[in-house]
Amino acid sequence: MTTPFDVAALRAREYPWMANDPAIYLNAASVGPLPQAAVNVTAEWTDMRARPHHLPFHLMQEAAATARRQFAALVGADADEIALMPNTTYGLNLAARALPLRPGVILTFDGEFPSCVYPFQALGARGLSLEFIPKRDGIPDEDALVTAIGNRADVVAVVVSWVQFANGFVADLERIGNACRARGVFFIVDGIQGCGVRPIDLHALPVDIFASGAQKWQLSPWGTGFVYVRRELVTALEPHDVGWACMKASVDYTRLTDYEFDFFDDARRFEVVTLAYQDFAAANASTALLLEVGVANIAAHIEQMGTRVVDWAASRADVRMVTPADPARRSGVLSFASTRLEAMAAALKAAQVNHVVREGAIRLSPHGYNTLEEIDRVLALLEG
Ligand SMILES: Cc1ncc(COP(=O)(O)O)c(C=O)c1O
Repeated sequence: MTTPFDVAALRAREYPWMANDPAIYLNAASVGPLPQAAVNVTAEWTDMRARPHHLPFHLMQEAAATARRQFAALVGADADEIALMPNTTYGLNLAARALPLRPGVILTFDGEFPSCVYPFQALGARGLSLEFIPKRDGIPDEDALVTAIGNRADVVAVVVSWVQFANGFVADLERIGNACRARGVFFIVDGIQGCGVRPIDLHALPVDIFASGAQKWQLSPWGTGFVYVRRELVTALEPHDVGWACMKASVDYTRLTDYEFDFFDDARRFEVVTLAYQDFAAANASTALLLEVGVANIAAHIEQMGTRVVDWAASRADVRMVTPADPARRSGVLSFASTRLEAMAAALKAAQVNHVVREGAIRLSPHGYNTLEEIDRVLALLEG
């Protein structure tokens, strides 16, 4: 299988530093490196921001509108279903606070990132409790989750990661969402570990709310992200946080003190405050790049790199792949455990291979700018 786009050209154009840096960056699951296009936009905006009279208001509004439109394109949604957010957790809090949840149980997987946990554990006063579906063989037990949704009358919502942060398991959103739909259960998804490098068509999926920070796989500045709210829910949700920017009147600065209490009819009703326009402008450059290269192409390249790691792990008695081997169940998060974990992590560190250790496993997270050759070099290092 050939790589579906020119990785060398992408690196040369957007990551020129990679040619001279001995490090191998395999940590997009923590922080996505900014492409040159985003760095350039940041510099331009910094210049304008330093002298704000050179930064016309319409540019800020356009940056926000472009961000909503491009994030929507990334996930198969419409711009009016997208609210700009500073991160993933804010969108998950919107779900926790604004969905009309009756008292009952919210289900999630054991092992989820805490932002899928704490916002929902905080709902005790409303008669809601969060329950964990235990892992099976170290990864989420999706069968048990789907069975619980079908059998239990007390379940009112399900919250899961699309891609798990530590083990890389990819949830079958269609399957879980269908189980939810059949029982009138809300389905909330933390999308940050997949969004940007895995195709998704939210309009074709039974997902109610999908939240993603753009700082990882979407290669964007910290403080940028979005939440998708399924169209039918946009006006059904009661905004929990209320500011001035969520109101229709906020578009006209000449009559702000008319105090017309009238939320936007689209998902902007969940945008409460002044946005980080500069960062969203940079995020727009990054998102444009992902759309230009093609999310499906990036996914195919990541799958090839992942297969090398999976095959290598299978060849070793002392290595156990934690991330599922099945390409349908893995994305860019590649985690493996080993009896030689400390020695391996030390060897990677000494060779400047940027990785992390999560939940007792080494996590490599390659993106479209990584090469198969880099993966081979890393595996050769681990062999040594
Ligand atoms: C699954 C998942 N959700 C959320 C986050 C981060 O949340 P936020 O974007 O709100 O900082 C991470 C970061 O590691 C994550 O892996």
